Amino acid sequence: MTDAQWRDEPTDFEQLGKLPRESAPPASVLGSLNITAAASDPELLDLPWHLRLEDWPTEYLAALPRGISRHVVRFAHLGGSVIAVKETSEHVARHEYHMLRKLQRLDVPCVEPVAVITGRTTVEGVALDPVLVTRHLKFSLPYRALFSQMLRKDTLTRLIDAQALLLVRLHLIGFYWGDVSLSNTLFRRDAGAFAAYLVDAETGELYPDLSSGQREYDLEIARVNIAGELMDLLEGGLIDGEVDPVATSELIMDAYRRLWAELTDQESFELGERWRVGARIRRLNELGFDVEEYAIKTNPEGSTIQLQPKVVDAGHHQRRLLRLTGLDAQENQARRLLNDMDTCRADNDPELDEEISAHSWVRHVFEPIVRSIPRELSGKLEPAEVVHEVLEHRWYISEKLDRNVPLAEAVQSYIDTVLRHRRDEAALIITADTDTMALLEGGVLGEASEED
Ligand SMILES: Nc1ncnc2c1ncn2[C@@H]1O[C@H](COP(=O)(O)OP(=O)(O)OP(=O)(O)O)[C@@H](O)[C@H]1O
Ligand SMILES: [Mg+2]
Repeated sequence: MTDAQWRDEPTDFEQLGKLPRESAPPASVLGSLNITAAASDPELLDLPWHLRLEDWPTEYLAALPRGISRHVVRFAHLGGSVIAVKETSEHVARHEYHMLRKLQRLDVPCVEPVAVITGRTTVEGVALDPVLVTRHLKFSLPYRALFSQMLRKDTLTRLIDAQALLLVRLHLIGFYWGDVSLSNTLFRRDAGAFAAYLVDAETGELYPDLSSGQREYDLEIARVNIAGELMDLLEGGLIDGEVDPVATSELIMDAYRRLWAELTDQESFELGERWRVGARIRRLNELGFDVEEYAIKTNPEGSTIQLQPKVVDAGHHQRRLLRLTGLDAQENQARRLLNDMDTCRADNDPELDEEISAHSWVRHVFEPIVRSIPRELSGKLEPAEVVHEVLEHRWYISEKLDRNVPLAEAVQSYIDTVLRHRRDEAALIITADTDTMALLEGGVLGEASEED
């Protein structure tokens, strides 16, 4: 795909199917706009680029939780989706835009770049800062918004594990981040754990390979930033007083090093221990990685095998689920759903073809669960997470009641006792919800309150 450059586009609101709003950009200021975008989103022209981002009227804005940032960032409606708009310098916007595109092509979890817009001026002709536009990552939460109830220690550990996995994946493809922190990461729920996405690529660079010095330096930045972020949360009373920010920040070093070693270490085996090669590969698959190739060398005596796996991007379970069912889920969700699918197959008809059995599981388990979620609750969690939670819930109540609870009963119980009480994560709209109000008062959601 080549970048499309739109210059001096005529502004025909009728043609765009919309009437101008009061604050819609007048044609005179659109003349100087320069939009670099991966795909054409004509609705971009409807946004009030002639106003400073801080002054954008609420009618354009989507009130969603936002992390802390130096730049002004706003969420705005664009057609049916939501975009994040960041005012910054042209150099930074272009660098970040191209970096995000490269990361996307390399299949790293990150926000999707939409456009860079320069040449903004006010009606009086005063120049305004360029902006970077990215697609709002649905169901994502900045880490501070995850702290609406006091965060439990093990949740914090899972958050840090997700951050470590993201860093390992970035380093494997040669990306040096340079500003690793919880606030430059977005989190999505992933079968009870979290999946981390890179949101701020401003300081990042791609290299053919990273030296261990570069990797260690990035890791050190992560440790220092996370310690600082946790101290902040502690001061704000948002985490358990028992949590030690420094010790917790050090967890990322261990988690990262363990993963890195598992993924890249060379191992030697005696010839008689060939099975260990398979075991290592299974462990890598468990972590969500595929082994594309591995070098096996025998030494002159011919008694040992050296294994050097060449790991490819995470997503082993994701890909298997997609291949079998067409469902697109996160890695842990996929692993959880596949477990259930495999168990169903083993229980019902172990001889049945894997694909046919998967199809039957989608029809008899996945779809009925998703369909039974009442419309008004369907924005609470994404479908794969709901199915995962229902399966967990079924297991939990079956154990409690000491009987095999049928799926339909488990779904109803889940809706009534769990889902109804969940916060809406599709588009955490700020209403009088007390948790969110408490966050707002703590300044956690930035200026979202003004927007509502
Ligand atoms: N596409 C997106 N989807 C969801 N949230 C986003 C998106 N883009 C930005 N954000 C939110 O806005 C916040 C600020 O964005 P970003 O980190 O890019 O700004 P910044 O000013 O460059 O930050 P820094 O202070 O680290 O330089 C993020 O922490 C995140 O919460
Ligand atoms: Mg940032």
